Amino acid sequence: MFVEKQYDLAVLDELPHYVPNSTEFINYYNQFIDLMSLYQAAADEIVTKLQTLDNEFSAKYQRNPIHTLKSRIKSPESIIGKLSRKGLPLNAATIRENLYDIAGVRVICQYIDDIYTLAGLLTSHDDIELIKTKDYIKEPKPNGYRSLHIVVNVPVFLSTGKDYAPVEIQIRTMAMDFWASLEHELHYKTGKTVNEELSEELHSCAETIAETDRRMQEIYKKINQIEE
Ligand code: GTP
Ligand code: MG
Repeated sequence: MFVEKQYDLAVLDELPHYVPNSTEFINYYNQFIDLMSLYQAAADEIVTKLQTLDNEFSAKYQRNPIHTLKSRIKSPESIIGKLSRKGLPLNAATIRENLYDIAGVRVICQYIDDIYTLAGLLTSHDDIELIKTKDYIKEPKPNGYRSLHIVVNVPVFLSTGKDYAPVEIQIRTMAMDFWASLEHELHYKTGKTVNEELSEELHSCAETIAETDRRMQEIYKKINQIEE
């Protein structure tokens, strides 16, 4: 299993750019440091739980259901952008109340069934509270995007006591991730518009990939003689 963490609190150095007034800035900065430390700890907690599950599977079944685990904290730029799109002021309270994807964990699995097994096991932990589920596998987005998204509330123990932070977990297969990564790049990175014909082509690729995922799952079941 490959684990990649993308949070470096140095990203906070970007803040002066957004909050030019210096006294205001120090106030924001301190609030941000506390808040980002909380989200980082919550993401770490989830990563550890998933690593533990993957290790257990590996010991019991000689197989790693998780191919890659990635975690990231939303950049100040994206936080500020999202709050302003929602017409909300920038402060710790509005962030906590309105943004559930500051801490994000992406779990890339081998098979479709692994997605539901991991989500089920993780949310059965008694310290984890499931607050939102979006199943884009059972109901893919119109463009063909597939993933299981869950948001969980995670307890974090800080010097100031116990606190909670939400973590958005996106769980998908390697095949779903292949499509989502390329589609994301085509849309966002290039800034080029994708016309209807190409959107349909992208959608068709998603369907082909989904079909392959299902076939690979069936092959796995047959080889391992797993009954429905
Ligand atoms: P936002 O977080 O503001 O986007 O709204 P939301 O919470 O309703 O979002 P949703 O759960 O639908 O999706 C959140 C995340 O899933 C996005 O930030 C992307 O990482 C991913 N995602 C959703 N839809 C797509 C898509 O069509 N293509 C790709 N590549 N990724 C997507
Ligand atoms: Mg989001």
